[in-house]
Amino acid sequence: MSIVIPQELIERLAAARRVAVLTGAGISAESGIPTFRDALTGLWANYDPQELATPEGFARNPKLVWEWYAERRARIAGVAPNPGHIALAALEKRFERFTLVTQNIDSLHQRAGSREVVELHGNIARVKCSVEQTVASPIPQDDSPPRCHCGAYLRPDVVWFGEMLPADALARAEEAAEHCEVFLSIGTSAQVYPAAELPLRALSAGATVVEINPERTALTRHTQFSLQGPAGAILPQLLARLEATCRTGP
Ligand code: OAD
Repeated sequence: MSIVIPQELIERLAAARRVAVLTGAGISAESGIPTFRDALTGLWANYDPQELATPEGFARNPKLVWEWYAERRARIAGVAPNPGHIALAALEKRFERFTLVTQNIDSLHQRAGSREVVELHGNIARVKCSVEQTVASPIPQDDSPPRCHCGAYLRPDVVWFGEMLPADALARAEEAAEHCEVFLSIGTSAQVYPAAELPLRALSAGATVVEINPERTALTRHTQFSLQGPAGAILPQLLARLEATCRTGP
Protein backbone atom coordinates (compact mmCIF):
# COMPACT_ATOMS: atom_id res chain seq x y z
CA MET A 1 0.00 0.00 0.00
CA SER A 2 1.38 3.37 -0.98
CA ILE A 3 0.33 6.36 1.11
CA VAL A 4 1.37 9.89 0.32
CA ILE A 5 3.68 11.15 3.05
CA PRO A 6 4.19 14.91 2.69
CA GLN A 7 7.83 15.96 2.19
CA GLU A 8 7.19 18.75 4.71
CA LEU A 9 6.67 16.12 7.42
CA ILE A 10 9.85 14.27 6.44
CA GLU A 11 11.79 17.53 6.63
CA ARG A 12 10.43 18.35 10.07
CA LEU A 13 11.49 14.88 11.22
CA ALA A 14 14.92 15.25 9.62
CA ALA A 15 15.41 18.51 11.53
CA ALA A 16 14.10 17.17 14.87
CA ARG A 17 16.35 16.16 17.74
CA ARG A 18 13.62 15.00 20.13
CA VAL A 19 10.73 12.77 19.09
CA ALA A 20 7.98 11.27 21.23
CA VAL A 21 5.61 8.52 20.15
CA LEU A 22 2.37 7.22 21.64
CA THR A 23 1.19 3.81 20.48
CA GLY A 24 -2.05 1.95 21.09
CA ALA A 25 -3.56 -1.39 20.22
CA GLY A 26 -3.61 -0.55 16.47
CA ILE A 27 0.17 -0.92 16.15
CA SER A 28 -0.15 -4.56 17.21
CA ALA A 29 -3.25 -5.30 15.10
CA GLU A 30 -1.11 -6.41 12.15
CA SER A 31 0.64 -8.88 14.46
CA GLY A 32 -2.74 -10.54 15.07
CA ILE A 33 -3.69 -9.00 18.42
CA PRO A 34 -7.24 -7.61 18.50
CA THR A 35 -7.77 -3.92 19.35
CA PHE A 36 -10.27 -2.84 22.01
CA ARG A 37 -12.80 -0.65 20.24
CA ASP A 38 -13.17 -2.10 16.75
CA ALA A 39 -16.94 -2.46 16.36
CA LEU A 40 -16.75 -6.14 15.35
CA THR A 41 -13.44 -7.64 16.43
CA GLY A 42 -12.53 -5.33 19.34
CA LEU A 43 -12.12 -6.94 22.76
CA TRP A 44 -14.62 -4.54 24.35
CA ALA A 45 -17.19 -5.40 21.66
CA ASN A 46 -17.06 -9.01 22.75
CA TYR A 47 -16.20 -8.90 26.46
CA ASP A 48 -17.41 -6.71 29.32
CA PRO A 49 -14.57 -4.51 30.58
CA GLN A 50 -16.40 -4.06 33.91
CA GLU A 51 -16.06 -7.80 34.53
CA LEU A 52 -12.55 -8.27 33.12
CA ALA A 53 -10.65 -5.04 33.60
CA THR A 54 -11.64 -3.57 36.95
CA PRO A 55 -10.57 -4.39 40.53
CA GLU A 56 -14.27 -4.97 41.33
CA GLY A 57 -14.59 -7.50 38.50
CA PHE A 58 -11.52 -9.33 39.80
CA ALA A 59 -12.93 -9.36 43.35
CA ARG A 60 -16.22 -10.82 42.02
CA ASN A 61 -14.68 -13.52 39.84
CA PRO A 62 -10.89 -13.86 40.16
CA LYS A 63 -10.78 -17.15 38.26
CA LEU A 64 -12.57 -15.74 35.20
CA VAL A 65 -10.30 -12.67 35.09
CA TRP A 66 -7.11 -14.69 35.66
CA GLU A 67 -8.00 -17.14 32.89
CA TRP A 68 -8.93 -14.40 30.41
CA TYR A 69 -5.53 -12.77 30.89
CA ALA A 70 -3.79 -16.18 30.76
CA GLU A 71 -5.39 -16.74 27.34
CA ARG A 72 -4.34 -13.30 26.11
CA ARG A 73 -0.81 -13.89 27.48
CA ALA A 74 -0.58 -17.16 25.52
CA ARG A 75 -1.86 -15.48 22.34
CA ILE A 76 0.67 -12.64 22.66
CA ALA A 77 3.49 -15.13 23.22
CA GLY A 78 2.60 -16.72 19.88
CA VAL A 79 2.82 -13.58 17.71
CA ALA A 80 5.74 -11.55 16.38
CA PRO A 81 6.46 -7.83 16.01
CA ASN A 82 5.29 -6.48 12.63
CA PRO A 83 6.98 -4.01 10.23
CA GLY A 84 5.45 -1.09 12.19
CA HIS A 85 7.16 -2.12 15.45
CA ILE A 86 10.39 -2.81 13.58
CA ALA A 87 10.40 0.59 11.82
CA LEU A 88 9.88 2.35 15.18
CA ALA A 89 12.89 0.51 16.64
CA ALA A 90 14.97 1.70 13.66
CA LEU A 91 13.64 5.27 13.96
CA GLU A 92 14.76 5.41 17.60
CA LYS A 93 18.40 5.21 16.50
CA ARG A 94 18.09 8.34 14.35
CA PHE A 95 17.27 10.86 17.08
CA GLU A 96 19.08 12.33 20.06
CA ARG A 97 16.01 11.56 22.20
CA PHE A 98 13.26 9.19 21.16
CA THR A 99 10.69 8.18 23.77
CA LEU A 100 8.21 5.49 22.83
CA VAL A 101 5.21 5.64 25.14
CA THR A 102 2.85 2.71 24.77
CA GLN A 103 -0.57 1.83 26.11
CA ASN A 104 0.09 -1.75 25.04
CA ILE A 105 0.95 -4.52 27.46
CA ASP A 106 2.35 -6.95 24.89
CA SER A 107 6.15 -6.22 24.88
CA LEU A 108 6.16 -6.21 21.07
CA HIS A 109 8.07 -2.91 20.93
CA GLN A 110 10.83 -4.33 23.13
CA ARG A 111 10.86 -7.55 21.10
CA ALA A 112 11.29 -5.45 17.93
CA GLY A 113 14.35 -3.78 19.47
CA SER A 114 12.99 -0.50 20.90
CA ARG A 115 14.97 0.50 23.97
CA GLU A 116 13.37 3.63 25.42
CA VAL A 117 9.87 2.24 26.03
CA VAL A 118 7.52 3.73 28.62
CA GLU A 119 4.68 1.36 29.50
CA LEU A 120 1.68 3.36 30.70
CA HIS A 121 -0.69 0.44 31.25
CA GLY A 122 1.66 -2.22 32.65
CA ASN A 123 2.73 -5.48 31.09
CA ILE A 124 0.78 -8.72 30.80
CA ALA A 125 3.93 -10.81 31.23
CA ARG A 126 4.17 -9.70 34.89
CA VAL A 127 1.87 -10.49 37.80
CA LYS A 128 1.65 -8.79 41.16
CA CYS A 129 0.05 -9.31 44.55
CA SER A 130 -3.44 -7.78 44.57
CA VAL A 131 -2.84 -6.46 48.10
CA GLU A 132 0.90 -5.82 48.52
CA GLN A 133 1.44 -4.82 44.84
CA THR A 134 4.79 -6.68 44.80
CA VAL A 135 5.71 -8.27 41.47
CA ALA A 136 5.91 -12.10 41.48
CA SER A 137 8.25 -13.71 39.00
CA PRO A 138 8.14 -16.26 37.43
CA ILE A 139 4.35 -16.54 37.26
CA PRO A 140 3.31 -19.39 39.58
CA GLN A 141 1.29 -22.01 37.71
CA ASP A 142 -0.12 -23.86 40.72
CA ASP A 143 -3.57 -22.34 40.90
CA SER A 144 -6.00 -20.15 39.00
CA PRO A 145 -5.29 -17.52 40.23
CA PRO A 146 -2.23 -18.43 42.28
CA ARG A 147 -1.70 -16.75 45.65
CA CYS A 148 1.01 -14.48 47.00
CA HIS A 149 2.97 -15.64 50.08
CA CYS A 150 0.69 -13.23 52.04
CA GLY A 151 -2.35 -15.24 51.03
CA ALA A 152 -3.91 -12.68 48.65
CA TYR A 153 -4.48 -13.50 44.98
CA LEU A 154 -1.94 -12.59 42.36
CA ARG A 155 -3.26 -10.51 39.44
CA PRO A 156 -1.87 -9.29 36.11
CA ASP A 157 0.39 -6.23 36.46
CA VAL A 158 -1.76 -4.14 34.14
CA VAL A 159 -3.76 -0.98 34.76
CA TRP A 160 -7.48 -1.56 35.11
CA PHE A 161 -10.30 0.96 34.76
CA GLY A 162 -10.48 3.16 37.82
CA GLU A 163 -6.81 2.60 38.72
CA MET A 164 -3.94 5.08 38.68
CA LEU A 165 -1.24 4.78 36.05
CA PRO A 166 2.30 4.07 37.31
CA ALA A 167 3.42 7.53 38.42
CA ASP A 168 7.00 7.30 37.13
CA ALA A 169 5.87 6.10 33.67
CA LEU A 170 3.31 8.89 33.40
CA ALA A 171 5.85 11.50 34.48
CA ARG A 172 8.35 10.28 31.86
CA ALA A 173 5.65 10.29 29.19
CA GLU A 174 4.53 13.82 30.03
CA GLU A 175 8.09 15.09 30.08
CA ALA A 176 8.77 13.55 26.66
CA ALA A 177 5.54 14.99 25.21
CA GLU A 178 6.30 18.48 26.48
CA HIS A 179 9.87 18.52 25.19
CA CYS A 180 9.63 16.93 21.75
CA GLU A 181 9.65 18.64 18.39
CA VAL A 182 7.62 15.91 16.66
CA PHE A 183 4.98 13.73 18.32
CA LEU A 184 3.60 10.63 16.57
CA SER A 185 0.26 9.16 17.73
CA ILE A 186 -0.03 5.69 16.25
CA GLY A 187 -2.85 3.14 16.39
CA THR A 188 -4.79 4.63 19.26
CA SER A 189 -8.39 5.80 19.32
CA ALA A 190 -7.24 8.62 21.65
CA GLN A 191 -10.15 8.07 23.99
CA VAL A 192 -8.50 6.85 27.17
CA TYR A 193 -7.02 9.44 29.50
CA PRO A 194 -4.43 10.38 30.59
CA ALA A 195 -2.69 8.81 27.55
CA ALA A 196 -4.96 10.72 25.16
CA GLU A 197 -3.80 13.98 26.67
CA LEU A 198 -0.15 13.44 25.67
CA PRO A 199 -0.46 14.57 22.01
CA LEU A 200 -2.45 17.61 23.17
CA ARG A 201 0.32 18.50 25.64
CA ALA A 202 2.86 18.18 22.82
CA LEU A 203 0.71 20.41 20.63
CA SER A 204 0.43 23.08 23.35
CA ALA A 205 4.21 22.97 23.76
CA GLY A 206 4.64 23.71 20.04
CA ALA A 207 5.40 20.24 18.63
CA THR A 208 4.30 18.97 15.23
CA VAL A 209 1.67 16.29 15.93
CA VAL A 210 1.24 13.46 13.46
CA GLU A 211 -1.37 10.71 13.52
CA ILE A 212 -1.06 7.31 11.86
CA ASN A 213 -4.34 5.43 11.86
CA PRO A 214 -6.66 4.01 9.16
CA GLU A 215 -9.59 5.79 10.86
CA ARG A 216 -10.21 9.32 12.05
CA THR A 217 -10.09 9.71 15.84
CA ALA A 218 -10.81 12.34 18.48
CA LEU A 219 -7.27 13.59 17.90
CA THR A 220 -7.33 13.91 14.09
CA ARG A 221 -8.64 17.47 13.88
CA HIS A 222 -5.83 18.68 16.16
CA THR A 223 -2.99 17.16 14.13
CA GLN A 224 -0.84 18.88 11.51
CA PHE A 225 -0.41 15.60 9.59
CA SER A 226 -2.89 12.73 9.48
CA LEU A 227 -1.60 9.66 7.62
CA GLN A 228 -4.60 7.42 7.07
CA GLY A 229 -3.61 3.77 6.74
CA PRO A 230 -2.10 0.84 8.61
CA ALA A 231 1.00 1.53 10.69
CA GLY A 232 2.74 -1.58 9.31
CA ALA A 233 2.68 -0.03 5.84
CA ILE A 234 3.19 3.65 6.69
CA LEU A 235 6.03 3.45 9.22
CA PRO A 236 8.48 1.56 6.97
CA GLN A 237 7.78 4.14 4.20
CA LEU A 238 8.30 7.00 6.63
CA LEU A 239 11.62 5.51 7.72
CA ALA A 240 12.79 4.94 4.14
CA ARG A 241 11.88 8.51 3.14
CA LEU A 242 13.66 9.93 6.18
CA GLU A 243 16.78 7.88 5.42
CA ALA A 244 16.74 9.04 1.80
CA THR A 245 16.28 12.70 2.80
CA CYS A 246 19.08 12.53 5.37
CA ARG A 247 21.43 10.98 2.75
CA THR A 248 20.79 13.64 0.15
CA GLY A 249 19.90 16.68 2.30
CA PRO A 250 16.67 18.68 1.98
P1 OAD B 1 -8.49 1.12 20.66
O1 OAD B 1 -9.02 -0.23 20.35
O2 OAD B 1 -9.38 2.06 21.38
O3 OAD B 1 -8.04 1.85 19.30
C1 OAD B 1 -7.23 1.20 18.37
C2 OAD B 1 -6.99 2.15 17.22
O4 OAD B 1 -6.11 1.52 16.32
C3 OAD B 1 -8.25 2.54 16.43
O5 OAD B 1 -8.29 3.96 16.29
C4 OAD B 1 -8.04 1.87 15.08
O6 OAD B 1 -8.58 2.63 14.00
C5 OAD B 1 -6.52 1.82 15.01
N1 OAD B 1 -5.97 0.78 14.13
C6 OAD B 1 -6.49 -0.42 13.79
N2 OAD B 1 -5.66 -1.09 12.98
C7 OAD B 1 -4.57 -0.29 12.78
C8 OAD B 1 -3.35 -0.43 12.06
N3 OAD B 1 -3.09 -1.51 11.34
N4 OAD B 1 -2.47 0.60 12.11
C9 OAD B 1 -2.73 1.71 12.83
N5 OAD B 1 -3.86 1.89 13.54
C10 OAD B 1 -4.76 0.90 13.53
O7 OAD B 1 -7.10 0.90 21.43
P2 OAD B 1 -6.28 1.93 22.32
O8 OAD B 1 -6.44 3.31 21.83
O9 OAD B 1 -4.93 1.36 22.48
O10 OAD B 1 -6.57 0.11 28.38
O11 OAD B 1 -7.03 1.79 23.70
C11 OAD B 1 -6.54 2.48 24.81
C12 OAD B 1 -6.76 1.67 26.05
O12 OAD B 1 -8.12 1.29 26.16
C13 OAD B 1 -6.01 0.36 26.09
O13 OAD B 1 -4.68 0.49 26.53
C14 OAD B 1 -6.81 -0.43 27.07
C15 OAD B 1 -8.20 -0.10 26.60
O14 OAD B 1 -9.21 -0.21 27.55
C16 OAD B 1 -6.50 -0.71 29.43
O15 OAD B 1 -6.71 -1.89 29.35
C17 OAD B 1 -6.14 0.02 30.69
